[in-house]
Amino acid sequence: MRAYYYLEDGTSKCLPHDSNDIVTSESLISIGFHHISVFTKSQLEELCFIHKYVPRESISIDSSFDKDQLDRFFKEHIHENEEVRFITAGEGYFDIRDANDKWIRIHATAGDLMIFPAGIYHRFTPTNLMYIESTRFSKDYSELGVVPRPIASDNKVRKIYESKIKNHVIF
Ligand SMILES: [Fe+2]
Repeated sequence: MRAYYYLEDGTSKCLPHDSNDIVTSESLISIGFHHISVFTKSQLEELCFIHKYVPRESISIDSSFDKDQLDRFFKEHIHENEEVRFITAGEGYFDIRDANDKWIRIHATAGDLMIFPAGIYHRFTPTNLMYIESTRFSKDYSELGVVPRPIASDNKVRKIYESKIKNHVIF
């Protein structure tokens, strides 16, 4: 995984937009985003056991995938519950907003397990390779609850997230 500030360069969303301004793990953790590199199936099983993660839906995206759906994935939104996503194959870009509302681009590849806190603004696009497979996990069977921006600015979960960031609460 590589995390960097997103460069608005007018190119396709599927291109890197790489500013070379790297974002550290510590900075990501400070906004509630966590990442674990998973190397083996048993490591994934152990993580699921420890954190009580259960597999939910899997998604496979290639060049035949519905374009309107891809556009929806790239519309900025929050979830009302934590999102745990494991990349099983291919690669993708997950953009998250930092505390100053700037985009951070996460280039995720196979073996990356990412935890997006409830309330963080984010969006997704496959890379130019147009191939990614991932599985979502959750601690229970609650749904993600998608709320687009700007409606999300009045959302209770978003307000809790903002107050955590403001008060430097450790996620
Ligand atoms: Fe999402």
